[in-house]
Amino acid sequence: MEQQKRYGHFDDQNREYVITNPQTPWPWINYLGNEDFFSLISNTAGGYSFYKDAKFRRITRYRYNNVPMDNGGRYFYIKDGDTVWNPGWKPCKTPLDFYECRHGMSYTRVTGRKNGVEASVLFFVPLKKWCEVQKLTLKNESSEVKQLKLFSFEEWCLWNAATDMENFQRNFSTGEVEIEGSTIYHKTEYRERRNHYAFYHVNAPIQGFDTDRETFVGLYNEFANPDAVMEGKPRNSHAHGWSPIASHYIEVTLQPGESKDFVFLLGYIENEQDEKFEAPQVINKKKAHALIAELDTTEKVDKAFAELCALWDNLLNIYKVKTGNDKLDRMVNIWNQYQCMVTFNFSRSASFFESGVGRGMGFRDSNQDLVGFVHQIPPRARQRIIDIASTQFPDGGCYHQYQPLTKRGNNDIGGGFNDDPCWLIFGTVAYIKETGDFSILDEMVPFDNQPGTEVTLFDHLKISMNHVIENLGPHMLPLIGRADWNDCLNLNCFSWDPNESFQTTENVSEGTKAESLMIAGLFVVTGKDYVALCKKIGKADEAERMQKAVDAMIEAVKKHGWDGEWYLRAYDFYGRKIGSNECDEAKIFIESQGWCTMAEIGAEDGLVAKSLDSCKKYLECEHGMVLNNPAFSKYIYEYGEISSYPEGYKENAGIFCHNNPWVIIGECLAGRGNDAWSHYAKILPSYVEEKYQTLHKVEPYVNCQMVAGKDAFKPGEGKNSWLTGTAAWMWYTVSEFILGIKPDYDGIRIDPCLPETATDYTVQRKFRDAEYEITIRPNGAQKGVKQVIVDGKPIDGTVIPYSPGKHVVEATM
Ligand code: GLC
Ligand code: GLC
Repeated sequence: MEQQKRYGHFDDQNREYVITNPQTPWPWINYLGNEDFFSLISNTAGGYSFYKDAKFRRITRYRYNNVPMDNGGRYFYIKDGDTVWNPGWKPCKTPLDFYECRHGMSYTRVTGRKNGVEASVLFFVPLKKWCEVQKLTLKNESSEVKQLKLFSFEEWCLWNAATDMENFQRNFSTGEVEIEGSTIYHKTEYRERRNHYAFYHVNAPIQGFDTDRETFVGLYNEFANPDAVMEGKPRNSHAHGWSPIASHYIEVTLQPGESKDFVFLLGYIENEQDEKFEAPQVINKKKAHALIAELDTTEKVDKAFAELCALWDNLLNIYKVKTGNDKLDRMVNIWNQYQCMVTFNFSRSASFFESGVGRGMGFRDSNQDLVGFVHQIPPRARQRIIDIASTQFPDGGCYHQYQPLTKRGNNDIGGGFNDDPCWLIFGTVAYIKETGDFSILDEMVPFDNQPGTEVTLFDHLKISMNHVIENLGPHMLPLIGRADWNDCLNLNCFSWDPNESFQTTENVSEGTKAESLMIAGLFVVTGKDYVALCKKIGKADEAERMQKAVDAMIEAVKKHGWDGEWYLRAYDFYGRKIGSNECDEAKIFIESQGWCTMAEIGAEDGLVAKSLDSCKKYLECEHGMVLNNPAFSKYIYEYGEISSYPEGYKENAGIFCHNNPWVIIGECLAGRGNDAWSHYAKILPSYVEEKYQTLHKVEPYVNCQMVAGKDAFKPGEGKNSWLTGTAAWMWYTVSEFILGIKPDYDGIRIDPCLPETATDYTVQRKFRDAEYEITIRPNGAQKGVKQVIVDGKPIDGTVIPYSPGKHVVEATM
């Protein structure tokens, strides 16, 4: 049978993506939860939940290397006579009469219909609560009485997701549960040091349960055909060790036309040390009872859901554009902002392409994510900046990652990525421009979380800048360290040992000449920001000191970083050029084109225009701009991980979407609106939605990290969806540089850069205590605002001065 080629569509009215065929090319997922309790959920209800940290507090189990099989999740089995089916199709995969999955803003609704019964499950995490709600509605649409047997299913993870998948000799003996009424408690390791447990509850009497996986599933069976379900008989098993699960069994009778709701709750509880037990070895369930009581009826659940929806109404009302172009509007108003929130929450830790085990919050990643999120909930952005800065070292270097639970730097990966410090400036400046809150600069922030080492956040910024200028190489360009933004350009790691990590091996740094043009550009961009900030807060001497360093860097790039048609990428350990016409392969790289054009280095001599032209000529392909060209065709010992990837994938000439916006911003600054737009539209999911269905294969509502490049075996295949700096960079690019609404210290700067076909559009922008309705009239111009009229009066220049209240603005180009 010819497979259906379209798997879903956008529903802008409801801010949902509607999946109509469960057999999507890969699992298409969504995220639930906004702050502490989080879940990943696929279109077949696969996925898992955790509290704060996907590694240390994993609540439910998922399977390693599981795309596309997607085994593990929250499953409802419905046994109707001899037919067993799931509303989300998996795991039984019984063909459904109707299937639909609606991924919305922090919720997912999965609906299946079979033989006259409809089962619809709404999944969400209520605000400020540590639980996932699963509201199941069963409806009898037939003309007969239905006697259904309903089984729920969750599999517990023994908390630490890493040891859960490797330390079986212990795990098989530690699992413990308690059962009380309709609630199954998971309390593994609670008897010793843990002060937390989880529970799975349903707000109805149950007629049976199971908590031991093998008893429920049966030896050598799969989730698709558990013995208990197939026979329609729960075993009432009590898990001792092995693999504990939670399954409720409920007998449901439905008259024709009748429907019933069941509220399932997956919750997480922490107790004080001296209140852990209510009797010897019996967990104190007081808080669990309280949480259950808050959500034990349909009405309470619907109210909690309405609150969640209201939050998203508010968040998405801060920046709203109306261009008349649905494809653009839906990405700007809905999905791009939504993806920004998700990446802010998870950094690169937990997706179907990231295990949730290996990585916490990235130092550079999280700073970049800030620019996509800061307008939404500024206080959380503020806290994030402090958390990130607290993992910096006294010399300005930084832990590359930290764990969200402990907020401690991650020693497995350590530091030495020499671009990291600059990103702190980038994030902090974005925060201050959005909020006007300069007080953050006076916050006392420790080094490496060590009490007693606190200095002001401003001092952290200062030593960040210093870290670059104190680590210059022979061309007065920044030394790269283990790597710069490109984690895989490892110029001081000469490795022939497959057991070594490219990222953490830096075995030849002594005497290195490896320098990065990407950091040079980044330093100039953030250095200019830093200088402006210093002037703003009356630190004229510091501004002057850093301006000199910036000027020197610009000179160094012009002198040693220009290759004739584009900016070089780097110098290697021996001082040889990388990303030069002289090289056999990888003659040109995108990162230095992006950053040096954003820094406008040599614009006056035509370098920027030439670099941008070269990007079009050598990097652009059907699906976007590749990272380097031509791809490396073999492993180069001096370059590290980058050349370990086959041609066209990831950092070896993949379309690493994250960096495309850098060039687009370069285009915008240069006033080349047509080019900026055509690059942008190539990687804008709604614009290439058709391609997503069959070629990119990943979720069409968000950007993925990488699309295979022109040199790949399968060009156009997408990978690593959801968690990527692409989200924040796409947002920053479209909101500030294309549509041209730029928060600044004293107000909002209007400076769009548009294709000449652009027509009038309006942006509603809440900004601090003001609300602006800004109409832009491009008149066929790509760049250059001629006049700005605020509340009927023309102003000087293009910055709308900040003043609380509502304002109507008109800008003519
Ligand atoms: C990944 C990392 C990011 C890095 C990029 C390029 O997205 O999370 O930190 O900059 O890869 O290597
Ligand atoms: C791997 C990935 C790269 C990512 C890095 C982060 O090297 O290929 O994209 O940035 O891991 O640790």
